[in-house]
Amino acid sequence: MTNPPTPARLVVLISGAGSTMSAVLDAQQDASYGARVVAVISDRADAAGLVAAAEWGVPTSVVALADFPDREAWDRALADEVARHEPDLVLLAGFMRLIGAPSLARFGGRIVNTHPALLPSYPGAHGVRDALVGGAKVTGCTVMLVDEGVDTGPIIAQAAVEVWDDDTESTLHERIKNVERGLVTVTVGRMAREGWTVEGRRVTVGTATLKDTKGDA
Ligand code: GAR
Repeated sequence: MTNPPTPARLVVLISGAGSTMSAVLDAQQDASYGARVVAVISDRADAAGLVAAAEWGVPTSVVALADFPDREAWDRALADEVARHEPDLVLLAGFMRLIGAPSLARFGGRIVNTHPALLPSYPGAHGVRDALVGGAKVTGCTVMLVDEGVDTGPIIAQAAVEVWDDDTESTLHERIKNVERGLVTVTVGRMAREGWTVEGRRVTVGTATLKDTKGDA
């Protein structure tokens, strides 16, 4: 079982608006939340979430791919920057790049990502658009652990969102994000407070396992 100290040191990686990050920062105002954001790191200097994080008084930094000779050098620099903040948990909150081997080697098993679709359906950078084009009637969001694949890590939590006939990518994504902010906030808080186990592809947050509850009915 992975059981971080409380409050868990949380490093958040963003590429954009950072509304998921802001929801976590809001939740941690309650001292019992169990996690504390110690740094926000972006691959984009123009990510609006950096301004929001600074307004919350959280240290921010930028590790931009363009500032490095190649992808491997960027991967190493990102891992170094994350490590500098000694995280117990790393949250990808709208971070639109793949996590490379250096970060997986150092923080593997405690990097959490959120994706705007019900994985394993519609992975990748356009999960909302792909669900719409694919004719899905229900989509949603997935919180998962990060592995070396594209949105292939073990699933921690999911929530469903109905697709409406008149939805556009943007109206659907906004409805998903409303649900996703709550799902991410609750899930990260529970992981920090209660720990988690991974057996094969099955993740259990807290101590209640299927084995514990079997035969209770
Ligand atoms: C969220 O919907 C998140 O799932 C998505 O970016 C949005 C971030 O919004 N991430 C991905 O698509 C990763 N594949 P935010 O910047 O307002 O938190």
